[in-house]
Amino acid sequence: MTDPFDFSAVRGAFPHVRPRRNRRAPWARTLVAENTLSASDLIWPMFVLEGKGLREAIPSMPGVERLSIDLIVEAATQAHSLGIPALALFPYTNPKLRTDDAREAFNPDNLVCRATHAIKQTGLDIGVILDVALDPYTSHGHDGLVRDGIILNDATVEALVKQSLNQVAAGCDVLAPSDMMDGRIGAIRRALEAAGHHDTQIMSYAAKYASAFYGPFRDAVGSSSTLKGDKRTYQMDPANTDEAIREVALDIAEGADMVMVKPGMPYLDIVRRVSETFKVPTFAYQVSGEYAMLIAAGERGWLDPEKVMLESLLAFKRAGVAGILTYFAPKVAKLLAT
Ligand code: PBG
Repeated sequence: MTDPFDFSAVRGAFPHVRPRRNRRAPWARTLVAENTLSASDLIWPMFVLEGKGLREAIPSMPGVERLSIDLIVEAATQAHSLGIPALALFPYTNPKLRTDDAREAFNPDNLVCRATHAIKQTGLDIGVILDVALDPYTSHGHDGLVRDGIILNDATVEALVKQSLNQVAAGCDVLAPSDMMDGRIGAIRRALEAAGHHDTQIMSYAAKYASAFYGPFRDAVGSSSTLKGDKRTYQMDPANTDEAIREVALDIAEGADMVMVKPGMPYLDIVRRVSETFKVPTFAYQVSGEYAMLIAAGERGWLDPEKVMLESLLAFKRAGVAGILTYFAPKVAKLLAT
């Protein structure tokens, strides 16, 4: 018997078959669209700055600003009214507070903790996602603790557990470990359970590559100038695919609720493989360098910035994501609302 879902059995040819019929009118294209982009797919990453009423431009990310906490709260309110379900906060830590042991990460009054608390005080139904990684707090710009030029895995994991509990105490809904240390998801999950935080979600940066596309982000958090060397002993080799599957499998087994692939557009093959293999909510991070490229080409008049923004985000939906972290979030959400 022929398998009814075996499309090789479909016989048909021009002129009976004309794929263009379904593309002829806008209503028809809308009707047959396989994927759509909506504000509910978006996570808005924001950079937090010390002070009040302050905004600071980030030259390598035109249109993105570091905001003081009062303005972060305003932005969160705007995000909520636009239908954006969650924010991801990253601190610009005062260089004087950056140390070898990253102790500012454990300070209950640090920037992201205060910002999280302020957002949660509004009572808005909006998720706050916080990175778990030491790079905004270390004097050397690495995500982990360093001894003699070596990134220490297990000592870093202990520090990440402390950072996680600190952030949860401030009201953070979702911990997003972005450090790529081995075993950190399991260690954080164990500590959360032990402390009675049974409902804290973990969105693991499970397949995070050692990418040159993070450059503008490091400008934004102030770690470009401090970073010594590169992150290739912990972030993944861009040459690998199967390794991503293994990393994701481990993080799910250790208790991640959601997984992420990062960067986004250059790694859509990984996004597709992960979403197909595991059937867990899979996210992609359209990182700072991807944003910067599209904006820069738009500024030169070489690309239509609005169109490439929408097309690049739809590509993630096609690849099977549950959502996208993107600096375009407010712009897209406004556009989709009109
Ligand atoms: C820190 C972190 C990075 C990003 C998110 N969390 C940078 C890095 O790993 O060096 C990159 C985000 C972006 O480029 O937009 N661990």
